[in-house]
Amino acid sequence: MEAVLEARGITKGFPGVLALDDVSLALHPGEVHALVGENGAGKSTLIKVFTGVYRPDGGELRYRGAPAAFGAPLDAQRAGISTIYQEVNLVPMMSVARNLLLGREPRGRFGVIDAAAMYGEAERVLAGYGVETDVRRPLRTLGVGAQQMVALARAVSVDARVVIMDEPTSSLEPREVETLFGVIRRLRDTGIAVMYVSHRLDELYQVCDQVTVLRDGRLAHTGPLAGLERLKLISLMLGRDLTEVRAEGVTRFARRDGRLNGEPVVEARGLTRRHVLEGVDVSVRPGEIVGLGGLLGAGRTETAKAIVGALPLDGGQVLVAGLPLRGGSTTAAIRAGVSLLPEDRKAEGIIPTLSVRENIALAALPSLGRAGVVSDAKIDRVVEIFMRRLRIKAASPHQLVSELSGGNQQKVLLARWLAVRPKVLLLDEPTRGIDVGAKAEVQALIDELAGEGLGVLLISSDLEELVEGADRILVLREGAVVGELSGDEVTEERIMATIAEQADG
Ligand SMILES: Nc1ncnc2c1ncn2[C@@H]1O[C@H](COP(=O)(O)OP(=O)(O)OP(=O)(O)O)[C@@H](O)[C@H]1O
Ligand SMILES: [Mg+2]
Repeated sequence: MEAVLEARGITKGFPGVLALDDVSLALHPGEVHALVGENGAGKSTLIKVFTGVYRPDGGELRYRGAPAAFGAPLDAQRAGISTIYQEVNLVPMMSVARNLLLGREPRGRFGVIDAAAMYGEAERVLAGYGVETDVRRPLRTLGVGAQQMVALARAVSVDARVVIMDEPTSSLEPREVETLFGVIRRLRDTGIAVMYVSHRLDELYQVCDQVTVLRDGRLAHTGPLAGLERLKLISLMLGRDLTEVRAEGVTRFARRDGRLNGEPVVEARGLTRRHVLEGVDVSVRPGEIVGLGGLLGAGRTETAKAIVGALPLDGGQVLVAGLPLRGGSTTAAIRAGVSLLPEDRKAEGIIPTLSVRENIALAALPSLGRAGVVSDAKIDRVVEIFMRRLRIKAASPHQLVSELSGGNQQKVLLARWLAVRPKVLLLDEPTRGIDVGAKAEVQALIDELAGEGLGVLLISSDLEELVEGADRILVLREGAVVGELSGDEVTEERIMATIAEQADG
């Protein structure tokens, strides 16, 4: 069958990096094609070349059997290529309904938007994706996962021959991922070609037929996914020997013995906020990794925010090393040694107009210098250490952080909070969007820091990560702690059972 969308020998460079080097890829009608590779391998760049965001330096693009060159993303969309970019590019201040139907709002006489019709239509469309929300609300008031579902629904509900998804599931919970897969299969069965980027390899095997692997901007492999062993796929991505990868395994938390003594370094008592948290108690001891389990909306992120003073509370108290922390002040929390890597890095973290170096050093500056004077050399050293340890791929420390690939931006934020050398680190989805190789390294680093006495509160939708990492797990549901698991009880089954038990009861 003829390809619907094709890249032939595409090359694209940015100052200091050849992001795509002679890449060819053919996408056929009715196939779900996985595009994988390490952070910075060139996946998003290839997508942006396909959709007219970037103009290639060399090579040819073909669409529906003829040479194509889209001047802008809107041209690609009009021609039938619908894309969900890695960075959600909706308008946060506008209503959910408007975002969903942007550019094709139902209009009445004189071309005025028919609000009632628009809200009705939006509700109907979203219900099909299992999203129940007030479509009049500004989009920004929705959680990251729900926002992503809106972006998905929008992309899929336009008439398209090709649907491209760049890490669509990174902030979705299992139920939503199932919904999405249902949608993808429906698209495939109607002859639409789907291109799918994800770092969650288990997902690829559930939904993809073909796979293309990029490594350092070059094509490393392309072919059917069935029959390609998962470890083999990883070795292709990393460019390392299969035997080597097999010997090392995939997750990298070491087993520690469960005996942890000492007083809690942080202790939260009765954290309460109307409709959000109902008297949550959490404590973390030095060297302990405490996991928070639960579904989306259970209150995990809110608990972490409450501890660092980023969520106004109706009641409760946080003690650090036995001393009460002033409520509602993140500065006080940082000074006391409590840091949070937030979930929504786009909104709460990365400062796009600053360099990699400045983004890393930002939070650590006060602690690096005496009397407000920080030597450049000292900053350079800290930045250099973390860029190396987290394998942050950038042309130089002075590159704008917004020019880094999505996964590398995440690593920059992680570096920022590690550079502070906190006593307690709260990590909200620390490895989301990070490739398999770097993920293992981030996990090893968390493990090592805990070994040095850092207390860690770990939030992760990746159950495997939670189970392997945590010494103890608190399960949350509807803003309350409904179970605690420790030692041998820390298993995926027990977490799921604890969540389900409560749901039935
Ligand atoms: N606008 C830009 N300016 C400069 N360099 C860029 C720009 N966009 C991407 N790059 C560089 O091109 C390379 C490929 O980036 P790309 O975003 O395509 O990676 P990716 O495979 O999507 O990674 P991830 O899994 O982290 O999202 C990286 O080295 C990145 O820093
Ligand atoms: Mg990307």
